[in-house]
Amino acid sequence: MLVKSGSGVLTMGASSSAGVTPGAVADTLVAPYNDLEAVAAAFRRHGKSIAAVIVEPVAGNMGLVPPARGFLKGLRALTARHGALLICDEVINGFRFGFSSYSALYGGVTPDLITLGKVIGGGLPLAAIGGKAKWMRQLAPDGPVYQAGTLSGNPLAVAAGLATLDVLEREQPYARMADLGSALAVGVSTIAAEHGLPITCQSFNGVFTPFCTDRPVTNLADAKSCDTALYAKVFHGLLDRGIYIAPSQFECNFVSAAHAERDVDAFLSAFEAVCRTLPA
Ligand SMILES: Cc1ncc(COP(=O)(O)O)c(C=O)c1O
Repeated sequence: MLVKSGSGVLTMGASSSAGVTPGAVADTLVAPYNDLEAVAAAFRRHGKSIAAVIVEPVAGNMGLVPPARGFLKGLRALTARHGALLICDEVINGFRFGFSSYSALYGGVTPDLITLGKVIGGGLPLAAIGGKAKWMRQLAPDGPVYQAGTLSGNPLAVAAGLATLDVLEREQPYARMADLGSALAVGVSTIAAEHGLPITCQSFNGVFTPFCTDRPVTNLADAKSCDTALYAKVFHGLLDRGIYIAPSQFECNFVSAAHAERDVDAFLSAFEAVCRTLPA
């Protein structure tokens, strides 16, 4: 929604991109991730006018930040109590950690609506929304909400997506990707500590972000407190050694089904070589 929180969730935010109108900003409240009390406060203040809460179950858009215990269940309880929808944005999460959505596999919550993209397209431009029949029936042609586009249901993208999901279902690479991801994350954090560098690699089932801080990152404020100049040095050091991680501290990296143990070893050797060039 490209709206950033102002000084707090209860104040009106500002747009974080040109082209987002004040009207759109005024319709959006932003609460910090993993902060159930901030969401509860928004409901106390704005009560019935909140239509829905949208959350990435495992946050990927500030680097990889897993949900705190009880956070998603708490959002489910709050939205249910106030008659608002819970929308899980699983554009990154869906089919990434296992052959389903994060909310179904690990979150222990049933959202009203879910958004999917990326993996389900197998590299082609495909996205989807789904959810409870009551809400899906609101969409045209059954309901009054018009939804259509040039590429809606595009046969090429759908064929690619189905083929990808077939392979994932058959080969189930998830446990292997998770093992490689956690070996990589533990390796990065350990090597950084040995070199006295404040780098903590957070990971969840094969998705990871090396955060340039020695504290856990639980929300955007924590992510923003990271040493981005150090991240840039790590990024360029790895790039010089043939490894291209995300070019921003606020993105995540993905172990893929094509990766193997030797790739993790190569990553960690390159990372260690980079650490040797950095002052502690
Ligand atoms: C979590 C998340 N939601 C939504 C989007 C946007 O999805 P789309 O590109 O299908 O509009 C992105 C980015 O690509 C994303 O990372």
